[in-house]
Amino acid sequence: MKSYFISGASRGIGMELCKQLLNRGDRVIAGCRTPFKEGFLSNLQKTCSHLEIVQLDVNNEQSVTDCFEELERKSITIDRLFNNAGVIDWRNLHEVSADSFSQVLQTNLRGAFLVLRHALACLRPSSDAWIYNMSSRLGSIELRGNTQLGGAIAYECSKAGLNMLTKQAAIDLAENGIKVVSLSPGWVKTEMGGAEAKYSVEDSVGKILDITDHLTLQQNGRFWGEDGKEIPW
Ligand SMILES: NC(=O)c1ccc[n+]([C@@H]2O[C@H](COP(=O)([O-])OP(=O)(O)OC[C@H]3O[C@@H](n4cnc5c(N)ncnc54)[C@H](OP(=O)(O)O)[C@@H]3O)[C@@H](O)[C@H]2O)c1
Repeated sequence: MKSYFISGASRGIGMELCKQLLNRGDRVIAGCRTPFKEGFLSNLQKTCSHLEIVQLDVNNEQSVTDCFEELERKSITIDRLFNNAGVIDWRNLHEVSADSFSQVLQTNLRGAFLVLRHALACLRPSSDAWIYNMSSRLGSIELRGNTQLGGAIAYECSKAGLNMLTKQAAIDLAENGIKVVSLSPGWVKTEMGGAEAKYSVEDSVGKILDITDHLTLQQNGRFWGEDGKEIPW
């Protein structure tokens, strides 16, 4: 049994990660902006001792520090961190507003950075800690022009930045034995991905867990797709 922390667990890929991990007997700490909202997870928490829901707004540094200080106080070790919370603005270079550009970077990049940094105290005691930054092929500079979707400039920049966070953190945390990779879940039918997307959320998460279960030290510090193939930065 491993202990997982998932940010952005209230819906979409984050919620499905919780479901599949709990089904197979892992322990899950689900970070949600509104933890007391009635819904699937709050109902499950009433009967499932392996699930804990915690308040986490990645845009708010105080919320992030409070969340992980509380876990540290309870001596909770995290073996696997899914840095999953994210937002998108599909507008292109000409249309996106400066405010929206900032908000997307704030959540997808600054938010992931804050979670990663404040989670370290809970990750260090693990004998095999991994951080999974939920990126996107839209963040690959090399793939620009080669993917079906694209042009969502704020989102693309945020995920390219997240990929640099992965690379640098993998280097900086190697001496602590903490591994860091970027993942792409594919194009997934969620509120973000929309109804036309390629994968159901169940399929995508099944593929992601199959990959993360088998990652080796040699694969640390790199960018992996839901198909198991490496994605160029
Ligand atoms: N769906 C795709 O096709 C696709 C493709 C590539 C990458 N991804 C990435 O996969 C991740 C999950 O995407 P998804 O498709 O599941 O999106 P989604 O259905 O829109 O869900 C986004 C999740 O992030 C949470 N969130 C947003 N801002 C937050 C904040 N400030 N603090 C805490 N939580 C916050 C949301 O919480 P609330 O309910 O409180 O809003 C929600 O739980 C994202 O990082 C996304 O970029 C998705």
